[in-house]
Parts: sequence; structure tokens; C-alpha cells
Amino acid sequence: MELQDVLTFLGLVWVARWVLYIVLDVVAALRKFVLARLSNDNLPIKYGGKWAVVTGCTDGIGKEYARQLAQRGMNILLIARNKDKLNNVKQLIREEWPGVETEIVQVDFSHGRVIYQDIARHVEGKNIGILVNNVGMVSVPPKKFVEFREDEAWSHINVNVASVVAMTQLVLPGMLARGRGAIINVASLASSYPMPYLGIYSATKAFVDFFSESLSWELRGSGITVQTLRPGAVITHMTSYAEQMSKPSFFVATTKTYVTSALATLSHSGRTSGYWPHGLQEFLIDEIFNRRFYMYMIEWLVPSLIKAELKRVAEEQAKKK
Ligand SMILES: NC(=O)c1ccc[n+]([C@@H]2O[C@H](COP(=O)([O-])OP(=O)(O)OC[C@H]3O[C@@H](n4cnc5c(N)ncnc54)[C@H](OP(=O)(O)O)[C@@H]3O)[C@@H](O)[C@H]2O)c1
Repeated sequence: MELQDVLTFLGLVWVARWVLYIVLDVVAALRKFVLARLSNDNLPIKYGGKWAVVTGCTDGIGKEYARQLAQRGMNILLIARNKDKLNNVKQLIREEWPGVETEIVQVDFSHGRVIYQDIARHVEGKNIGILVNNVGMVSVPPKKFVEFREDEAWSHINVNVASVVAMTQLVLPGMLARGRGAIINVASLASSYPMPYLGIYSATKAFVDFFSESLSWELRGSGITVQTLRPGAVITHMTSYAEQMSKPSFFVATTKTYVTSALATLSHSGRTSGYWPHGLQEFLIDEIFNRRFYMYMIEWLVPSLIKAELKRVAEEQAKKK
């Protein structure tokens, strides 16, 4: 065989592999983003418990999960740190779905281990069907690691990492005893590769991604669904530092659009972006970008997003004067 034949053969194998990956990805996307929308499961029955626990439920993605789970007939254990905002969400659910029960737990996840006894008291005696490990934080705007204070760094770890492990330990035994349940762990597309200026955030989300997927493998056959969610940009306080991520566009979702899509994927995908345009980004990042190229791009992109935002804020303030 000549060198040219060998190269042709290798090229064909490479193209065939790509075509196969693309076909499999398209089929998976159709299943989780199109067919999944057609089913309207009774969540309390499917997941064996009337209660859902949502951490970080007073804003953004968590608030929308609380609303949509209430809409689907779940009682909600609302966990966040601000009493007034918790009462607002409780009130909102009471007005929209009067039959739904809610209970509030006011805790600050940045305090670490000490808060979980209190949460355990509220969990006790409830059949928890769904746990949404949503609470998360990021430095707004992003900054270099050397600019982090020690307490800020610990807060990121306590909020983004420890909460996922500790909440799962509180809720999982009950689910295992009933042989049913779902745990949704909110990671991020930011967990794909390391991100300069968002280093602690992307590393904590990589933890969630790995922990969640390993757990889902360990729990295969137990009746419990563990879903790893990896959203791209969703308009919330977290994305407020960048104008481009503060208004809806093809890649930037509102919380309602995002959660409607992500919740439909719950029993159809163990690890997903949750929303098909984010799935397209996931495909580009995973299959086309290379780690170094991605890191160069983020290193260039983040400071320019921050600069644009600082300029916009300064211009708005100047106009007001
Ligand atoms: N938005 C995005 O583009 C995006 C993309 C990928 C992944 N995610 C992930 O999605 C999850 C939700 O993010 P989001 O954008 O919805 O954030 P968000 O709008 O900032 O909301 C965060 C929620 O968590 C609560 N919270 C924050 N720190 C807390 C603490 N120390 N103790 C208790 N509660 C606390 C907040 O309460 P307060 O109102 O009191 O602050 C709020 O209810 C996070 O895990 C995030 O990493 C978001």
C-alpha cells in the first residue's frame, strides 16, 4: 500500500467518525429537546415524593425552577439567604398555585457545614421527589485569582461545591428508601475547560459536573435520576456584567425559556446543556475548539466584556448628571 492510500484511508475513517458523531448528536438532541416536550409527566408520582427542594430559589434559574415545579404540582422547600426575597417567592407561588405548599429555609450557603443541621430539620419527614442543587455564585464582574480575598474564595467553594455534596447527602437516603427520585445538579458550560478570570468558578463547576455524572453511574438501576445540567448564558444577576448576556438572543436565554426546556429533559438526558442553542455551543466547545484555543479566546473575551460594561455604566451615569 502506498502512502497516498494510507492517508486516504485515514481521512475516510476520520470523516466517517465525524459523520457518525454528528448523526448521533442530532438524534440525541431531537430526543431530549423535541420528543421530551411532548410528555407531561406527573412529577410527584414519577419521582415518588410530593416535595421539591430548590437551593438558591429567590432569583434567576432557581426561582424559575421553583415556579415551574409548583406549576407541575410539587410542594416546594425554598432555600436561600434573603428572608424578604424568600417571602416574595412564597407569596408568588401561593397566588399562582394556591394548592401548593411551600416552606422557607433561610440559610447562607457560604457559611459552610454549620447550616446543614437546620436544613436537615426541614427535610425530615418530607417525601422529597426532586432536589435542584441550583445555588451558585460567581464574582461579578469576573477577576483574576490574585484579586480574590480569602473569604470570597471559601464562599465560592462552600456555595458551588459543598452545597451540592451536602444537600445530596441529606436527601438521597430517603430517595433510595423509596426507590425513586431526581437530583438536578446545575453545573455550567463553563465546566468544559479552564477559564481565565473565571478560574474558581469554572473549577467548581467542573467539580459539580464530575461529581454528578459519577453519582448517576453509581445509582444506575436504583430508580433515581441524577441529571447534570450545563447551561450556557441565561439572563440573570450572574450575567449582568456583560451587556451581550443581558438581553435575549439565539444563544442567550431568559430564565423561563431555559427552565421550560431544561425541565422537559429531566428524564431524557443525564448530562445536558438543557437548551438546544446551548447544546450547539456545547458541541462546538467539545468537538471543535481545542483547550488552548478556548482559553486564549476567554482570556481575550472576558476583559473586553467587562470593559464594555464599565464604559456603558460610566456613560449612563454621565447622562444622569
Ligand atoms: N446565569 C447563567 O448564565 C448561568 C450559566 C451557567 C450556569 N449557571 C448556574 O445556574 C445556577 C443559578 O444561577 P443564576 O444565574 O440563576 O444566579 P442568580 O440569578 O445570581 O441567583 C442565585 C440564587 O442563589 C442565591 N444565593 C446566592 N448565594 C447564596 C448563598 N451564599 N446562600 C444562599 N443563597 C444564595 C441567590 O440569592 P440572593 O438573591 O440572596 O443573592 C439567588 O436566589 C448557578 O449554579 C450558576 O452557576 C448560571
